Amino acid sequence: MENIEKADQLKKNNRVRLLTRERSKTAMIGTQLSDKTGQSHIIELVGVNKSFGEVQVMRDITFYIRSNEFLTLLGPSGCGKTTTLRVLGGFEQPDSGTVTFEGHDLLPIPPHERELNTVFQRYALFPHLDVAENVAFGLQIKKLPQGEIDSRVSQMLSLVKLDGYGARAIDQLSGGQMQRVAIARALVNLPKVLLLDEPLGALDLKMRKEMQIELKQMQRELGITFVYVTHDQEEALTMSDSVIVMNEGAIQQIGRPIDIYNEPRNAFVADFIGESNIINGRMHEDFRVLICDKWFPCVDRRHENEEVDVVIRPEDIDLVKPADNLLNGIVTSATFKGVHYEMIVEACDLEWLVHSTDHKAEGSEVGLSFGPDDVHIMVKSAFSPMRGKSDQDSASHESERGADYE
Ligand SMILES: Nc1ncnc2c1ncn2[C@@H]1O[C@H](COP(=O)(O)OP(=O)(O)OP(=O)(O)O)[C@@H](O)[C@H]1O
Ligand SMILES: [Mg+2]
Repeated sequence: MENIEKADQLKKNNRVRLLTRERSKTAMIGTQLSDKTGQSHIIELVGVNKSFGEVQVMRDITFYIRSNEFLTLLGPSGCGKTTTLRVLGGFEQPDSGTVTFEGHDLLPIPPHERELNTVFQRYALFPHLDVAENVAFGLQIKKLPQGEIDSRVSQMLSLVKLDGYGARAIDQLSGGQMQRVAIARALVNLPKVLLLDEPLGALDLKMRKEMQIELKQMQRELGITFVYVTHDQEEALTMSDSVIVMNEGAIQQIGRPIDIYNEPRNAFVADFIGESNIINGRMHEDFRVLICDKWFPCVDRRHENEEVDVVIRPEDIDLVKPADNLLNGIVTSATFKGVHYEMIVEACDLEWLVHSTDHKAEGSEVGLSFGPDDVHIMVKSAFSPMRGKSDQDSASHESERGADYE
């Protein structure tokens, strides 16, 4: 059938960032590549695989990083984020594939000669050195004149808002301050790329939010490319220019935060990025999908009778009076969450998560109202929801994400 342009467009959007194997084979090492936006790629990985013993931790990883962008690797624990960063940093060698930096083969270059620095998952500061000595360490090794070292250290401490802390011992700092010292130490050499592995993971929520804003500002001010690792989807969406969603060593989607949120490529991405109702559907014809034995308008085209996954975000559902053309059900729980109410509605043997500022009490009979734009159609994948209410229960919205799929 010819009318599946929308779905094809989705695939293309995803591929905009994902180099095809064909192209990569012809990519000349020694040539700095750019994409149709005209921005150059500082780093390219093509077909990178890495196993530890029997476990394949990176599966055919192919992506590029644009100069000066804030790119985030996002995925659940154990999906291979740190390993990917360690390959970039030179602390692991891949089993196969290529990694280029400004068009040159990066793999033979030892870590300390690469023009990138790492802020590790744990602070890794030198406890016997004070704050200024920690930051100065890399410059001392390079044997720069003391005057220059002093002025660059004080610039960096000012950048991370630790003016006056130079003589402090490391064990007299808070977690957030230690993290700033680690960032200052990594930035003082002005690397072209900074690799950050869950740098805010140990901080409390308030401190993390503040540091997110500060890091983003620093990245803009310095014009340094940031490759950031997190398993926190909100952090990824807030800070990044581009996000790469990974699961079990494989890339699931690459895109701008807004595209990843609005047009998840499969049920894994939809579930990992924000809370979602993911249900089985069947296409009837263009722009019409069957959900729970009723037809609903949508903005997608797929093959006639194709089984699909349908995503409807909790904030896109309005609870209205029951009606024949709606899915009707009963509110089984309503919890105040600060800005909105979180309500669970049982309708057509499924539990629907609804976020709304309008409160509907437990036991209310309601209709679920959503517009064509709120109905996102995805192709079936290994991450598709299982059928039936009992299965739905086991894959509840609160569950550990990513663990409940076939
Ligand atoms: N040196 C190693 N030897 C053996 N297995 C390893 C090694 N390093 C990592 N692994 C395994 O590889 C997998 C991916 O690890 P990795 O550290 O890249 O995950 P991650 O996405 O960073 O997870 P987290 O969010 O928990 O930090 C895990 O199963 C891990 O146990
Ligand atoms: Mg990690």
